[in-house]
Amino acid sequence: MTTNTDSRVTIHMAASLDGFIARKDGRVDWMETSDEFANGDILDPEFIEAFRKTIACYYMGSRTHETALSFEAKGLGWAYGDKPIFVLTRRELARIRETVEFYSGDLAEFVNGRLRPKFRSIWFVGGGMLSAECLRLGLADEVRYSILPILIGDGIQFFEKLDRDVALHLAEVKAYKSGTVGLRYEVRGHRDEPGNVS
Ligand SMILES: NC(=O)c1ccc[n+]([C@@H]2O[C@H](COP(=O)([O-])OP(=O)(O)OC[C@H]3O[C@@H](n4cnc5c(N)ncnc54)[C@H](OP(=O)(O)O)[C@@H]3O)[C@@H](O)[C@H]2O)c1
Repeated sequence: MTTNTDSRVTIHMAASLDGFIARKDGRVDWMETSDEFANGDILDPEFIEAFRKTIACYYMGSRTHETALSFEAKGLGWAYGDKPIFVLTRRELARIRETVEFYSGDLAEFVNGRLRPKFRSIWFVGGGMLSAECLRLGLADEVRYSILPILIGDGIQFFEKLDRDVALHLAEVKAYKSGTVGLRYEVRGHRDEPGNVS
């Protein structure tokens, strides 16, 4: 399959130090932590806003979409602005927002055939089930992993049921005042090399 090599697919999620993105029942209450790392960076809201503008579209699993909707219903806002959002589901779901589109079908065809030709900076924002599938299929260029200063013992893994090794290159490490550590990895050897899926 021919893909737009200018495009970039980033997997981004936050997790506990023991690698969970949510409790088994989906709760993310543990994400409100109270740590303080004296020498850490402070995230400037203007920088975050400018950075978000560089993201062209998001895609996610239907359960992550449900969490985003529940956050909005609680008055916590909509994290994705007016950017296009693609939600993977095999169910017939009611469309609540104009920017949201549902997709059911082959994941590699969707990312390589539909998203890459049209969008440059593509962000996959959860959850664990689909993030493993993206890596298994060689669809992601980059993994951004924010480690929160907490252990929760059990839950939904960042990479649920990943059944093969994925070699990474550590590209960036940042420690924040909140005690969160941001790791950015490039996925090695997934495109333009023999035996790759894309
Ligand atoms: N800590 C973080 O940064 C973070 C980020 C995102 C999410 N989360 C949390 O993670 C949890 C959700 O993660 P999750 O792993 O349970 O679920 P998920 O990956 O968000 O969604 C799984 C659903 O996606 C659909 N799906 C998966 N593969 C598909 C395919 N190939 N084609 C079409 N549809 C497909 C199915 O939906 P249907 O059942 O509708 O068919 C499946 O049930 C939530 O609790 C959320 O709060 C945390």
